[in-house]
Amino acid sequence: MAILPIYTYGAEVLKKTAKPVKAVSDELRELIDDMFETMYQANGIGLAAPQVGVSLRLLVADISMIEEYAETAPMVIINPQILSTRGEATMEEGCLSIPGVRETVTRPKLITLKYRDENFEEHIEEIDGLMSRVIQHELDHLNGELFVEKLDSKTRRDLKEELEAIKRGDVEAEYELAEK
Ligand code: NI
Repeated sequence: MAILPIYTYGAEVLKKTAKPVKAVSDELRELIDDMFETMYQANGIGLAAPQVGVSLRLLVADISMIEEYAETAPMVIINPQILSTRGEATMEEGCLSIPGVRETVTRPKLITLKYRDENFEEHIEEIDGLMSRVIQHELDHLNGELFVEKLDSKTRRDLKEELEAIKRGDVEAEYELAEK
């Protein structure tokens, strides 16, 4: 397994619409393992493939380090599609691709998600709580969107300098960042 450098705000790969995964190959399994290792090393709870420079519709999530969710199994989510949503929830979010920035974001509370797992088996599941939040955030990455784009214009203005600094590569994190 390997720890992969994480692409940050401004990187082209984070702006692209990622391509569907066609099959689970050994290479893809290795990428999944590397993504988990990279996420754990960075103390993240979710990671999308574009964040490690791979433009595929794949994400991993593990929220079990949070006490309340200790029993929640890690998830590998391939080609996700939100079929429906319910309710609304407001939560603070951060992103490994935007080190140091945390802001409150409102999103649907519950999602009905169609996806394939690491064996390429299809599931349709209702997902609530923090896992729903993480999946929605990571799914945005697959569509070239970042959570800071969801903020109101004032908050975005306040963040402008910080984001510009990240874009220039003028940023530090406790994990490896891809070079600009
Ligand atoms: Ni993110």
